Amino acid sequence: MLESYLTLKAEYEIIPMELKDCVEVSLLHSERFARMWDETEFQSLLTQGTTFGFVARQTNAILKKALPGFVLARHMAGEGEILTIAVNAKLGRSGLGWRLMQAALRETRNRGGESMFLEVDGSNQPALGLYRKLGFETVGERKAYYVSDNGTKSTALVMRRVLR
Ligand SMILES: CC(C)(COP(=O)(O)OP(=O)(O)OC[C@H]1O[C@@H](n2cnc3c(N)ncnc32)[C@H](O)[C@@H]1OP(=O)(O)O)[C@@H](O)C(=O)NCCC(=O)NCCS
Repeated sequence: MLESYLTLKAEYEIIPMELKDCVEVSLLHSERFARMWDETEFQSLLTQGTTFGFVARQTNAILKKALPGFVLARHMAGEGEILTIAVNAKLGRSGLGWRLMQAALRETRNRGGESMFLEVDGSNQPALGLYRKLGFETVGERKAYYVSDNGTKSTALVMRRVLR
């Protein structure tokens, strides 16, 4: 029994984010980003009809595990926007970012969206790799937009993917 548990391959589902998820979402956000958004910010965004999100949950965990990942997006007037996305650092490069983004793109398309926008730090290689693999292209640049704690400045890239 213990042996089969230890060798269990984790399986995940991507499901709509609910208000009850916001505490865990805020915790994961604070682990992966310098600026924290507390759960009330996520709750207030999620209660706006234009905003939606998805969380990844392990379907075959025996013990409760930390939230594997989430994405938050919004759709207005034909344009979608990724507000934020994060995957637990221990689960990086296992395809969850891809699946979360696909869910957000699909939902935006279902709501009538024709394109999806996002903004990313041009030095964030994992995120850039993910977005390029999904077909996003750079459509704008804001030089020296991000300033890290040690004063290093980096460019913000605005990226877009056409959905139709
Ligand atoms: C960006 C992030 C969401 C990617 O999530 P992930 O689950 O690791 O991504 P996936 O496993 O789905 O990878 C999909 C593709 O993204 C790219 N990618 C992911 N991690 C990468 C890395 N460390 N270096 C380069 N490319 C990477 C690859 O193209 C990868 O495809 P491949 O594995 O077939 O080569 C995750 O690294 C993260 O949470 N980072 C911190 C928060 C953040 O920066 N969010 C984005 C803000 S704009």
